[in-house]
Amino acid sequence: MADQHAAPASRSGSSAVPALRWEDLPEGPVIVLLDQRRLPVDETELICTDVPALIEAIRGLAVRGAPLLGIAGAYGLALAAVRGFDVEEAAERLAHARPTAVNLAYGVRRALAAHRVALRSGAGPEKAAEAALAEARALHREDAEASADMAAHGLTLLQELLPGGGYRILTHCNTGSLVSGGEGTAFAVARAAHRAGELRRLWVDETRPLLQGARLTAYEAGRAGMPYTLLTDSAAGSLFSAGEVDAVLIGADRIAADGSVANKVGSYPLAVLARYHHVPFVVVAPTTTVDLGTQEGAAIEVEQRPGHEVTELPTTADATGTTASVPVAPVGAQAYNPAFDVTPPELVTAIVTENGVLSPVTEAGLAELCDRSRSG
Ligand code: MRU
Repeated sequence: MADQHAAPASRSGSSAVPALRWEDLPEGPVIVLLDQRRLPVDETELICTDVPALIEAIRGLAVRGAPLLGIAGAYGLALAAVRGFDVEEAAERLAHARPTAVNLAYGVRRALAAHRVALRSGAGPEKAAEAALAEARALHREDAEASADMAAHGLTLLQELLPGGGYRILTHCNTGSLVSGGEGTAFAVARAAHRAGELRRLWVDETRPLLQGARLTAYEAGRAGMPYTLLTDSAAGSLFSAGEVDAVLIGADRIAADGSVANKVGSYPLAVLARYHHVPFVVVAPTTTVDLGTQEGAAIEVEQRPGHEVTELPTTADATGTTASVPVAPVGAQAYNPAFDVTPPELVTAIVTENGVLSPVTEAGLAELCDRSRSG
């Protein structure tokens, strides 16, 4: 079950945007989400008391972005365990709620493994549920740490690639604290550049059709006091040709073993533009987004979303929380709506992870970078 209420007023005062938290209410534990469908107009919290509600929130993009999906998956598994639901079934359903971001299945798997280990070592269901919750909390914490490390590595990389500062960075989709336990992935690097006084402008692609750039990245950039300008996705080419882009920074939903990067649809055209204009195209993602079990980009499952997301524009929710939509195409128009695209490794200048920077992007280098997480 899900319930909605206005986010606490204190949230509006700070620039950090906590997107998800676990809360022990008198009536039982819940997962509290900042409902990203309602941003930037309303800061509304969505309270999930069970796994079906969380799955609905994931599919409907109330909670989204690769690292946060992993955290949500892990807490979802813990929620099922603490509330006494069938944990194995919950794991199966949660892991498949959306197909592309590998973090989701990863987070579920980690909490499930902790639960199983506890049961195998003789713990009762209560202790096993505690183990699953502890694992979810650990993942949440690690993601925040990874975020800070990626920001530091990413800033160093920018300083090397573009000596002199004053960066004009183009970004796509939303990669800030709304997708992470910390300040995010690509956005965290832009934010570090801003703190260092080196960000001249953040160019924010609106990110059709669901406008994660316009609704969410602009919201986060504004709160962080960053100089930003919004553009339609199709205006990016003009910006490159005018020499207004120094680097592209994006996140990733899944990185295959060969270094192919699945990210929000529209990323691949930016990589092509960046190569043509000799601009660095940098992917920022934690190693939890790397899927060494998927050999190449063509093997990554790209989520296909309903056509109405293209043929209709959602309007702001009314006072009752009901959203309407305005048609922008003739009734019955077919729409092609892949949520992601895949950029081949040869178009990626560098991949920034919490373990360091990989450039050039090679299969062996990526495996070695991921190995450092296991051995460290
Ligand atoms: O469909 P979404 O909004 O979940 O897509 C999110 C993205 O594509 C982000 O760019 C990606 O998850 C990287 S954020 C770390």
